[in-house]
Amino acid sequence: MKKGKLAIAVCLAVLLSGCGREVQLPVDPAKDKPIVVGFSQVGAESEWRVANTESVKAALSEENGYDLIFEDARQEQENQIRAIRTFIQQDVDYIVFSPKVTTGWKTVLQEAREAGIPVIMIDRDIEEQDRGLVTAFVGSDFRNEGEKAVRWLESLLEMQGRESDPVRIVHIQGTMGSAAQIGRTAALEQAVQQHANWEMAAQECGDFTRAKAYEVMTAILKQTKDIDVVYCENDGEALGAIDAMEEAGLKCSAADGVIVISFDATKLALQYCLEGKIGLDVECNPLQGPYIDEIIRQLERGEPIEQVKYIEETQFDCFTITREMIDSRNY
Ligand code: AHR
Repeated sequence: MKKGKLAIAVCLAVLLSGCGREVQLPVDPAKDKPIVVGFSQVGAESEWRVANTESVKAALSEENGYDLIFEDARQEQENQIRAIRTFIQQDVDYIVFSPKVTTGWKTVLQEAREAGIPVIMIDRDIEEQDRGLVTAFVGSDFRNEGEKAVRWLESLLEMQGRESDPVRIVHIQGTMGSAAQIGRTAALEQAVQQHANWEMAAQECGDFTRAKAYEVMTAILKQTKDIDVVYCENDGEALGAIDAMEEAGLKCSAADGVIVISFDATKLALQYCLEGKIGLDVECNPLQGPYIDEIIRQLERGEPIEQVKYIEETQFDCFTITREMIDSRNY
């Protein structure tokens, strides 16, 4: 369905659904044609990201009636903005994008709006003031993820009778300015402020990659090995930090070593969790493709949509994880 018609159909659907009546919308004469979607992905920095890309590609496939134009921004916001502008010039039916950072989107999103192209934002959020420019958001509540991690750490330390002992924390952050980094960092920083005995021993950016986290953790270990907790903002970083710590002779274990906390819950990291090297892995769910497909179908049918959808996520810890949980994961 083309954009002008789409806007009218959505308004109509909202109005009619408010009256509790069945929605009957004009049949789209061009419905046999594939739905053209431009997708600007941040990059391929992590296993999570690769799984996210695969999920979108599988859901918006040719067999499902889509013509997907995929652009990998290779971690550059400029590339994402350029890709979105190209999608507008190509007059695609929908734009899907995963914003690298929260800021700097206003102009290009206004351009998409003026062209009448609905924008579906996935994975990461943008600044509140620009959210009205996107049609729908499907992704994670990163602050909530960070809070799950902090609560788990508090109860572990309490269970171990260490709630009043000094807790020296190394914090490896994700890509600075991304919603994932901002939310997960905010939860930890607030907890450090709330616990007089928690101390931020080091805080460095690991850019959501194993290589960068290994590099920064190696440098930190040259300054100090007096570390109780390493809070990594994704699995790649946790694996890199563990490599560096093991090389330096430190034991990673929530029971009797350095407590490692991670986010994502990808297969390899869950294996580390089963082995006890990662204490907690808070899930970040990359399987967002089916939700995007559903939103597009609802829009095509002129039905009202949920504007913000936080997808369900769980957590895994080294004390309760099982082999079956790992084997049931595809990424
Ligand atoms: O935005 C989600 C984060 O980005 C994931 O935690 C990380 O692995 C990814 O690269």
